[in-house]
Amino acid sequence: MARSSRQLDPTVVVIFGASGDLAWRKLIPALYNLGLDRRLPEKVAIVGIARSAMADDAFRAHLREGVDRFSRRGKADPATWDTFAANVSYLSGEYGEAGVYERLAQRVAELEKAWGAAPDLLFYMSTPPTLVAPVAERLAAVRLTQDVERARVVVEKPFGRDLESALELNRALWRHLDERQIFRIDHFLGKETVQNILALRFANSLFEPVWNRRYIDHVQITVAEQVGIENRGGYYDKFGALRDMIQNHLVQVLCFVAMECPVSFDAQEIRSKKVDVLRALRPIPPERVPHYAVRGQYGAGWLRGEKLPAYRAEAGVPEGSNTETFAALKLYVDNWRWNGVPFYLRTGKRMPGRVSEVVVQFHEVPHQTFPPSASADLQPNRLVIRIQPNEGITLSLQAKEPGTVMRLRTVDMRFCYAEAFKTSQPEAYETLLADVFNDDATSFIHADQVEAAWRIVTPVLDYWEANPPTDFPNYPANSWGPEAATSLLARDERNWSVPLLRDDAGDD
Ligand code: BG6
Repeated sequence: MARSSRQLDPTVVVIFGASGDLAWRKLIPALYNLGLDRRLPEKVAIVGIARSAMADDAFRAHLREGVDRFSRRGKADPATWDTFAANVSYLSGEYGEAGVYERLAQRVAELEKAWGAAPDLLFYMSTPPTLVAPVAERLAAVRLTQDVERARVVVEKPFGRDLESALELNRALWRHLDERQIFRIDHFLGKETVQNILALRFANSLFEPVWNRRYIDHVQITVAEQVGIENRGGYYDKFGALRDMIQNHLVQVLCFVAMECPVSFDAQEIRSKKVDVLRALRPIPPERVPHYAVRGQYGAGWLRGEKLPAYRAEAGVPEGSNTETFAALKLYVDNWRWNGVPFYLRTGKRMPGRVSEVVVQFHEVPHQTFPPSASADLQPNRLVIRIQPNEGITLSLQAKEPGTVMRLRTVDMRFCYAEAFKTSQPEAYETLLADVFNDDATSFIHADQVEAAWRIVTPVLDYWEANPPTDFPNYPANSWGPEAATSLLARDERNWSVPLLRDDAGDD
């Protein structure tokens, strides 16, 4: 149960990598909004740590610009910002240098004295993955993480680069931390619509009886982005779409769609149901990778009369890069519920629109009652869970078209978040940071999940590395990806669903 600011213990939030994009665009705006909603502890201090030298005031001014630009509530109110910013400070130093941690420990000690209570300590690792273990080691050396009840460490994705490095990172963290202290974050799990998958499935008795292989033909999970790689070439080129999106975000969404009903909403319980799904995912045999996985990289293209650069021409990307900016997978969940039901996952940069959705495609009716003249366009039922934008759920049904003859047509039943709930939704990072304040790990990833997810994608990564692509770039910017992605489904006599884009809906 979320606690209000009054009930939360005094807390020091320490952000490593505080001068970076994540802190600027997401973390500080999220903390600021939590403050507005009275979800921050009454006694709170935020300490940013990064390498660049910067005075406290310059740091605050930089953060304020981020809030003005990226907060869901628009520009910061000057008085509220001043109150918030009074609790923000900055420490500069190298992450491997003991002095920074000693100064941090001293600051914590001063706050403890001023507050008259030992604070909770939240360490947010918004650093490159290779620095996570060394930072944890330094924190342990100054005994800032020794109190298992009070100290929590939030680790951003990507958690490792492959199975081996993820196992190694877990081992390195466990040297200094208890698993209960480690909050591996996947911000998709903080999205309202992703959390709503559980509400849809387990707070309604309607869906559960048909949520299985007898009624469902297949599931599609699409996370398409219109943007390219923005200014993240250096990072992105080392990771690519499979590691950046599928191993974490899409696989987590799959878990929500496929998991069994938890006995309670307890973190352990939900985690164990998700792990059951991950363990049931059929491993892709190395020699069958081309049959189950597709990769792509965008070339130049056009958007509204403007030329879009090819991936290989983006800043920070080596000329002949073979990193994939599109990936699609076919997965099977080998258990009683899902046996034989394919889950198709795809994600890509520079697609024609920004859209994330889950499509649950039901079987065709078992017997065709209507004459061909009535049912020429008959479509099997389809439930579309729209994660973003235009958040909501659509169930497509067949209905009789008004008229004197029997003719069937597909119609939609819609639930739209914006219409049903007039309030604005919190950002995923707000929800997840509030959970960390509350010491609630329900929406975070346990070690066994991260390892199981890497186990699934690692054969694909290995195969791709051993067999460099010969056709990159293989899709133009502003398209739905390479031809091979269409064939992945066409071989099974299926098609990707074409998401309705905002422009199509005419409401942009
Ligand atoms: C991040 C990826 O985890 O998620 C980015 O690293 C991606 O490449 C982003 O753009 C997408 O998140 P959202 O919330 O904007 O859909």
